Amino acid sequence: MSSRLYNWLDARLDLKPVQRTLLDEPIPGGASWIYVFGSVTLFLFVLQAATGMFLALYYAPTPDHAYDSVRFIETDIFLGWMVRGLHHWGASAMVVAIGLHMLQTFLYGAYKAPREVMWMVGVCLFLIVMTFAFTGYLLPWDQTAYWATQIGINMVGTVPLIGDIASRVLRGGEILGALTLSRFFAIHVLFLPAILLTGIAVHLFVLRRVGPAGPWTDDRASLGAETFAPRQVYMDAVVIAGVFLVVAALAWSIPLPLTDKANPSDTSFVPVPEWYFLFYYELLKYVHGPLEPLATWVLPLCVILVMLFWPFIDRNPVRNPIRRPVALGSGLLFLLVVFGLLGISIRNLYAVPRADPAVARGRTVYAQLGCVGCHRIHGEGGAVAPDLSTVGDTRPDREWHLKHFRDPQSVSPGSFMPKFPLTDRQLNDLTSYMLSLKRAT
Ligand code: HEC
Repeated sequence: MSSRLYNWLDARLDLKPVQRTLLDEPIPGGASWIYVFGSVTLFLFVLQAATGMFLALYYAPTPDHAYDSVRFIETDIFLGWMVRGLHHWGASAMVVAIGLHMLQTFLYGAYKAPREVMWMVGVCLFLIVMTFAFTGYLLPWDQTAYWATQIGINMVGTVPLIGDIASRVLRGGEILGALTLSRFFAIHVLFLPAILLTGIAVHLFVLRRVGPAGPWTDDRASLGAETFAPRQVYMDAVVIAGVFLVVAALAWSIPLPLTDKANPSDTSFVPVPEWYFLFYYELLKYVHGPLEPLATWVLPLCVILVMLFWPFIDRNPVRNPIRRPVALGSGLLFLLVVFGLLGISIRNLYAVPRADPAVARGRTVYAQLGCVGCHRIHGEGGAVAPDLSTVGDTRPDREWHLKHFRDPQSVSPGSFMPKFPLTDRQLNDLTSYMLSLKRAT
């Protein structure tokens, strides 16, 4: 800003104290590249807000129009695909940035007294961002969106006492439909931004009251302090520019998937969640039956509570990570489990051919032979025979199905399931379809 304009404004608005508050915040030990993640996260939030506003110009939150409006943005609007790409990859980048920001805070012991409140507000901000991700995922109203959300809401339904009401409130009724979509849209673009902005304001307010933690050295008296401007501003700006270039390059070069339009009756669709929820989907595969609530809500709730109250669990005032083996060990173990599960999940995803044509043919045979008259899949069909929604998990054996289809009574004595005259190909396709009916992968 030219100094004459600045002086003119300053004479009227008294800007110098504002500048001092914004830029002269002392950083103990001086500026550092390791302190940039908070600013990067804030920048990504601004990017999400800006791209989101432009997407909202064209997006229509109804089941009839949502999918087509996203396709329209993708194909007909000038640079619409780029804006959608920025919003998509920006969300991923935000999860990474928050993750690194929390990791740095954890490593430096910066959550310790007097900064407990700041950590707790930070954990809430993280949870809000994950809620953004969850609600945004439904909006394109494609098959992945629909079925992934279905699973998410069903999980909420497993919480005792409040689960049933909570899942109905989330859906806006008994089924995932028009009310759910407008509800998720309103939460995504109105409620959450308001809550997140308030949270960020509190987070920064607390930061200004307690000051940045600085290095972990015990000899704090020896630390000089440096103001936020200009060196920390410069470092933040450099990394922010770099992050923007990476997000833009991803948006530019990787076309975004849009699967078929959501089809509530196509129950064979197996959704794949975003990469940052994958580790959790993997975990869900290992727990069935009576243990299921453990994974759907007990464990997540415990992890969230431990994270939230961590500053009161780890009361050791020492900040140097080398002298905090227990805290460091628990953090490391947590990361190992999360990334281990993520690794396994990614390996499985690429090992299994995603769209096996035999499965699609099998689904047709299933419809033609009227299996639906006795069996139910994801709520559709008769109830006189076993529900087949997850028969791929409960009966994973191909041979069993082949034998059962050839002669139901040979494996289930007394079964009244008819012996269908099937060609070998029909038999194989039907079995492939049965094996594909699994819980979410
Ligand atoms: C007249 C009702 C009826 C029809 C029609 C019918 N089933 Fe069944 N099905 C049953 C009954 C009863 C059982 C339980 C006894 C058994 O295992 O045979 C069963 C069991 C099964 C099982 C084993 C489920 C489990 O968890 O043990 C599979 C798989 C199956 N049916 C698939 C099919 C397919 C595919 C079709 C269409 C080609 C079909 N059924 C048509 C009545 C029916």
